[in-house]
Amino acid sequence: MSGSSAPLQPSSSPSPLTTLLTAADSRPIAEGAADDPAARYGYGGELAAVLIDSDALRAKIGELAAAVAADHHSDSPPLLICVLKGAVMFMTDFARALPIPAEMEFMAISSYGSATKSSGVVRILKDLNSDITGRRVLIIEDIIDSGLTLSWLLKNLESRGPASIEVVTLLRKPEAVKVDIEVRYVGFDIPTEFVVGYGLDYAERYRDLPFVGLLAERMYR
Ligand code: IMP
Ligand code: MG
Repeated sequence: MSGSSAPLQPSSSPSPLTTLLTAADSRPIAEGAADDPAARYGYGGELAAVLIDSDALRAKIGELAAAVAADHHSDSPPLLICVLKGAVMFMTDFARALPIPAEMEFMAISSYGSATKSSGVVRILKDLNSDITGRRVLIIEDIIDSGLTLSWLLKNLESRGPASIEVVTLLRKPEAVKVDIEVRYVGFDIPTEFVVGYGLDYAERYRDLPFVGLLAERMYR
């Protein structure tokens, strides 16, 4: 990774790019509400709240894309590496918001653990199709929770000799402060809650929602 690797301090020194969201920012969905925004996607009654709606996602992705573009020159276009499956929605929207050329690669990894906690033991399910030697790599992540998955991925990709590796994550949870990894671009710092939608799943469901919401507790407890 390029640059210094100062510990992350999401709450005490948020970058201006990062929006800090608390539980108070979520819009509760009452049980059986007629205007449940998840209902039109077939998930009526399954979410407790909307945390980040589509408009807020679109606005933030525009800001992230502008910030990344300002740090790159079009003579060495960045290589976007999407970590499947969770980051797929973010990847496609981010790439389209980016005002400079970028190439795309996809990697699928799975981290062993329970349904809602990762263990840091990672397996590559699908590797990159191209050589990243000398490239300016941008890892496109959906969410950093414990940071174990990302820290494994950074080590793995660093060993392949890229010119630089930077991380763009849409979401980050407070736990991520414990791992010493530099994440240059963070969209939202969110509370320690299990979130779904916009690529994020619980048991493969909810990835297709166009917003980020909180899963109703009764769906997983
Ligand atoms: P970490 O290794 O704990 O940082 O977890 C990273 C991966 O766990 C993410 O890329 C997600 O796939 C998954 N994950 C972590 N938190 C959530 C969540 O709140 N909802 C859905 N998936 C999550
Ligand atoms: Mg992920």
